[in-house]
Amino acid sequence: METVLITGATSGIGQAFARHYAAQGCRLVLVGRDPEKLERLAGELGAPCRLLTADLADEAQVRQLADAVKDEPLDVFINNAGFGVTGPFLETDTEKEIAMLKVNDLAMHLLFKSVLQRMQARGRGTIVNVASSAGLLPGGPYMAAYYASKAYAASLTRAVAQELKEAGSGVYVCALCPGPVDTNFNRNADASFSLKGISAEECVKACLTGMAKKKTVIVPKARMRAAVMARRIVPDNVMLAVTGRQQKKKIWPK
Ligand SMILES: NC(=O)c1ccc[n+]([C@@H]2O[C@H](COP(=O)([O-])OP(=O)(O)OC[C@H]3O[C@@H](n4cnc5c(N)ncnc54)[C@H](OP(=O)(O)O)[C@@H]3O)[C@@H](O)[C@H]2O)c1
Repeated sequence: METVLITGATSGIGQAFARHYAAQGCRLVLVGRDPEKLERLAGELGAPCRLLTADLADEAQVRQLADAVKDEPLDVFINNAGFGVTGPFLETDTEKEIAMLKVNDLAMHLLFKSVLQRMQARGRGTIVNVASSAGLLPGGPYMAAYYASKAYAASLTRAVAQELKEAGSGVYVCALCPGPVDTNFNRNADASFSLKGISAEECVKACLTGMAKKKTVIVPKARMRAAVMARRIVPDNVMLAVTGRQQKKKIWPK
């Protein structure tokens, strides 16, 4: 029986991954902040689950989590927990932004490395770092720090994937880079979509298709892939203006 670790399992994309792997007969190690949400989810999944509570904005708790899973025989790690902050950079809440960087980058990095080292020692495994299409664009005015945080996740994953390839590693890593997905993401980011989102289930399905092809960067939806590809021909200043116009529409009126 395969063992799958998922952070941010209590909602959205993480929860859709949990449902998929439970249906595949896997054993799940589910991480979230709220023990009640985790218990409820485990009850619904009906799969063998180990539940771990951690606030990933707290580095000490991230390190405790890494330690708690170090002896798990992990086959798959969905490094997914994250959130966004929307608004003009001059006005966004600095503390919320710093917490976001800690979850989206510091926790993502520490858990990625720690799980990867153990998978490398075992000679196999799969890690999906949930980045975003935002991380593949030159920047995102009105969601500037979020885009930058996801550029870190995408860049880190690509570079490490290349290192693993050159080392002939049996471990496969990829960055899932979705565009809008209908989850609690927007509510937590004080935003509303300016583009229609896909469902979390569609996002997971597209990710699994990309994983089967061993893609390093997985962008669900042709329209989003086209937007990302446009970067190759459209100058950065034009991309920034277009992205900023879309992002500005998402800001909730104060
Ligand atoms: N939705 C989109 O449009 C979209 C697009 C591209 C990329 N993404 C990325 O996809 C990932 C999942 O987001 P989602 O769309 O599924 O949003 P979501 O429904 O809001 O789920 C986010 C998950 O992350 C967890 N989380 C947030 N802050 C945390 C913290 N400090 N410590 C531990 N867990 C924390 C949440 O836990 P709680 O239940 O406790 O809040 C929740 O389980 C994120 O990395 C996001 O950036 C989303």
